[in-house]
Amino acid sequence: MFFRFLFKGREPEFTLDGDLRLRHLGPEDASIFRDHLHELHYADFRDRFNGLVSDAWLEAYIADSLNNAICIGVFLGDHLLAVAELHAGGMMGEHVAESAFSVASDWRRKGLGTLLIRSLLKAATENDISTIIVETGPQNHAMKALARKFGAKMQFSGDQSVGRINVAEGLRLAGRRRSFAPLPVAAPGPAELPPGAMPAH
Ligand SMILES: CC(C)(COP(=O)(O)OP(=O)(O)OC[C@H]1O[C@@H](n2cnc3c(N)ncnc32)[C@H](O)[C@@H]1OP(=O)(O)O)[C@@H](O)C(=O)NCCC(=O)NCCS
Repeated sequence: MFFRFLFKGREPEFTLDGDLRLRHLGPEDASIFRDHLHELHYADFRDRFNGLVSDAWLEAYIADSLNNAICIGVFLGDHLLAVAELHAGGMMGEHVAESAFSVASDWRRKGLGTLLIRSLLKAATENDISTIIVETGPQNHAMKALARKFGAKMQFSGDQSVGRINVAEGLRLAGRRRSFAPLPVAAPGPAELPPGAMPAH
């Protein structure tokens, strides 16, 4: 499934709190995505990939993600602070996609993961995805807390902690608080910021 074609040039870029902005990433964002992942602290990088990976593997992963998955980034100016990914296809079957998240180490626990997951939920509905899989190491309390917030029941499977977010339920939970309302996300590439464009908080 090649999501990116569904997202070309549709939505304006939006300003979040202060100077934070949210937009879809495309293949042209490979170098900033790579920089973002390299900036993660050792333990966070290890949590993100469930271990260490080679440079060659990472390059292939970045290219595959930016070409074939939904990738949403949070920016402070030109600096990419956080990314959420939604990967479909493979063995997962129809209407199911797997998520991945990376928040810059100095920006953790400030709500960026929550911000991204609600945008991912909206993107999932727009792409006929009804279930989002979250898979992480059992020691990853942050990711498990984030997934639980949107209805996932995290359970051991092999050496991993795995949960499923029902997208409709996740959006319902997101809607219970006004600050969780889904936000518009800009298409890949530079986007014009419309005057006064601010999401609901
Ligand atoms: C997991 C991750 C994406 C969470 O992002 P974040 O921006 O820190 O998350 P938020 O600030 O939105 O917090 C989400 C919830 O998790 C909770 N939480 C965050 N870090 C936590 C921790 N270390 N322990 C327990 N709960 C935690 C928060 O309290 C919040 O719940 P609340 O709203 O009820 O208070 C981020 O920590 C990260 O990028 N980690 C490294 C990479 C990784 O592990 N990726 C996941 C595997 S793909």
